[in-house]
Amino acid sequence: MVFLIIGGSASQKLAAKVAEDLDENLSPIETRRFPDGERYIRIKGEIPKEAVVIQSTGYPQDENLMELFLILKNLKSLGVERTRVVIPYFGYGRQERRFMSGEAVSAVIVAELLEAAGASEIYSINLHEKNIKEFFNIPVHEISAMPLIANYIKETVDDPMIIGPDKGAHGFANEIAEILNCESDHLEKIRISPEKVETKPKKLDVDGRNVVIIDDIISTGGTIVNATKILKDLGAKKVVVGCVHPVLVEDALLKIFAAGVDDVFSTDTLRSDVSTISVAKLVAGYLKKFK
Ligand code: R5P
Repeated sequence: MVFLIIGGSASQKLAAKVAEDLDENLSPIETRRFPDGERYIRIKGEIPKEAVVIQSTGYPQDENLMELFLILKNLKSLGVERTRVVIPYFGYGRQERRFMSGEAVSAVIVAELLEAAGASEIYSINLHEKNIKEFFNIPVHEISAMPLIANYIKETVDDPMIIGPDKGAHGFANEIAEILNCESDHLEKIRISPEKVETKPKKLDVDGRNVVIIDDIISTGGTIVNATKILKDLGAKKVVVGCVHPVLVEDALLKIFAAGVDDVFSTDTLRSDVSTISVAKLVAGYLKKFK
C-alpha cells in the first residue's frame, strides 16, 4: 500500500472508484453521528504515511466540511505526513469576494480551515472562480471536466452547438467546442438575487439546431430555464443541458424539464439523478501524475 484512500460521507462511491482505478486501499472509515447530532470519526486499520481524502462539500455543506476537518486533523495526529484532499465540488466557492460590505468571504475561511486541519494539497474539479486557488498556501490542482463532457456530447448529440448561459460559462462552451470542432456562443445574464436571474435575448442562429447548454453549476435551475426559453424561441430543435456540479436545489430538475429541455447530464462530483459522467478516472490520473 502506497497511500490510503478515505472517502467522506459525500463521496464514498467516487472514492471507491478512484481506489479501484489506482489499485490502492480504500479505508473502512467509520463515520456516524452521536445521538445529539455531533459527528464521530474512526479510521480503522493500518495507517500509512500518506493518505488521500475524497470529500465533496456540497449540501449539507457544513456537515460535510466538519467531517472533512475531523478526518484531516485525525490523520495528522495519527502520524500521516502527507494528506492530499480531493474536493470534487468545492462548496462555499461562490462567496469568494465581499460583494457587499460586512460579508464573510466564506471561500477564504474554508481554505484557511482546510490548511489548518492538515491538508497538504488540494485537487478540485472546475472551481467556481479561479481566484480560489490563491486563498491557499499549499498546491491546488484544478482539474477540468470539460474533455469528459465533450466526449459525452460527441456520443449523444448529433452536430451540436454549444452555448454558455452567461459570460462566465463562455470559457466552458469554448473549451468543449474546440475539442468537438463545433460552434459555440453565450448569452448575457444578470443575477438579481441568489434565486432570480434575468437573461438578455440575443440573436443566435440556432434554428433547427441541437443545442447543448453548458454551465459549471446548476443550482436553482433559473439560469438554465431562462436560457432554454430563449433558445426554444429562436427555434432550437433539441436542447440538452450539461453541467459539472449538479447542486440541483429542490425542484430545479423539474423546472428545467418543464421548460422543454430534452436531457440533462452532469458529472458525479455530486450525487444526483443526472450524474452520469464519472470523474473517477480523471481524478485518479491527477493523483498519479502528482504522486
Ligand atoms: C454562475 O455564475 C454559475 O456559473 C451558474 O450559472 C449558477 O450557479 C447557476 O445558478 P442557478 O441554477 O441558481 O441559476
